[in-house]
Amino acid sequence: MDQNPPPLPPKADRRAALVLRQVEAALGDVLGSAGGDGPAARAAAGATTHQVLMVVLRRRATLDWLIARASNGSTRERVRRVLWWALAEALFLDGLPVPVIVDTAVEDLKLHSRGEGAFANALLRRILNPGRAAVLATVHSEAPEWVRLDLGEALHAAWSRRLATPALTALAALLQEPAPLVARLRQGADPTGAAGLEPLPAVDWAPTAALYRCADAAAFFASPAWQRRAFYIQDASTLLAPALLEVREGERVVDLCCAPGGKAVLLSEAAGPGGQVDCVDRSPERMARVRENLGAATNVRLRVADARLTPFANGAFDAALLDVPCSNTGVVRRRPDVRWHFSAASRDELAAEQAQILAAAARLVRPGGRLVYSTCSLEPEENGAVVQDFLAERPGYRLECERLLLPTAEHDGAYAARLRRRAD
Ligand SMILES: C[S@@+](CC[C@H](N)C(=O)[O-])C[C@H]1O[C@@H](n2cnc3c(N)ncnc32)[C@H](O)[C@@H]1O
Repeated sequence: MDQNPPPLPPKADRRAALVLRQVEAALGDVLGSAGGDGPAARAAAGATTHQVLMVVLRRRATLDWLIARASNGSTRERVRRVLWWALAEALFLDGLPVPVIVDTAVEDLKLHSRGEGAFANALLRRILNPGRAAVLATVHSEAPEWVRLDLGEALHAAWSRRLATPALTALAALLQEPAPLVARLRQGADPTGAAGLEPLPAVDWAPTAALYRCADAAAFFASPAWQRRAFYIQDASTLLAPALLEVREGERVVDLCCAPGGKAVLLSEAAGPGGQVDCVDRSPERMARVRENLGAATNVRLRVADARLTPFANGAFDAALLDVPCSNTGVVRRRPDVRWHFSAASRDELAAEQAQILAAAARLVRPGGRLVYSTCSLEPEENGAVVQDFLAERPGYRLECERLLLPTAEHDGAYAARLRRRAD
């Protein structure tokens, strides 16, 4: 190794590190169910473990490339997971000295098999001996672009077809950063007692929304203003679709894929006490979160149903929001696993489902009413193409406007299009 071995940390600390590694797979599930890299996932995982887990999820291609190159073959899944954790700590995080990281990984594997421990020992030393800078320089000069950008091969293929290398490189670098944590002051709420927040400039697609960066999340979540639900955690990109829908007081609105309810909260605020928002989602579990998020709103009705088979009458609504299930490529910072699971085939399957939901929703809007179709995907196949195919078959609708937000340091990516039903 390139460092003198420092004294090992106390056995209890090392034992704790081993336990943390063993819960990595479970933490992957926590990330999924807690909505990705958000405050809930962080709280569930604990700060340090969360940091390592995030590197493992974001740098998987680099880690696997190094492992494959050093091992000349396949590595057992259990061994591979431990190697990910060790390499993530050694190459991307500061804190533990490399010999301690290697020792901890080897001890962990020895609990199952001495052979696996010896294998990991040799492999980690082979990879890490040149030192962090040299290892990363090798990745930079020898690995294929999708590995260097840690994008996943299929996502890289999709994006490199429409983005030039500098734009693709900048986007990939941005996606290695944590997602911004943004709080919105609920309409009419009193911000007194808020802490840990910094005001953000207004966004042009929702200029009246009061948005704040959570500069000190611990202080914010402990503040009286958060406790009395004056704020809602809401990325600025999620305001695009409800803003395009332009709901007015007293209108009847349907939100067909509503859970966990971020946009439903905005629709309920806009429709006011004289309006009505019917919130539909096919997942009963996710619907429980809508109930929580809508709090005391009195103008909402919740229904677990498939958006393609709702019992509402034709033309029952002034406005409909369809925030359809999608590949989530606009929110990769919050869902770091998306970059590895994306495939052209699953995107196309989703596009077919999106088209079905859009077709079914069209009958619910009254003549002259409007419908907003939205995703948190950056893929044209799930966005403009779905809308254009719909319009080609439905001359009764016309496209009024559409917008794609690319992810930035301030917000996630999103797409939304407003369609108007012709007034007969
Ligand atoms: C992108 S999320 C919606 C996010 C939500 N609009 C918000 O702002 O919090 C998509 C939702 O669509 C739901 N969904 C997927 N297919 C559906 C279908 N066929 N009918 C109704 N809901 C569906 C999922 O359960 C998921 O909650």
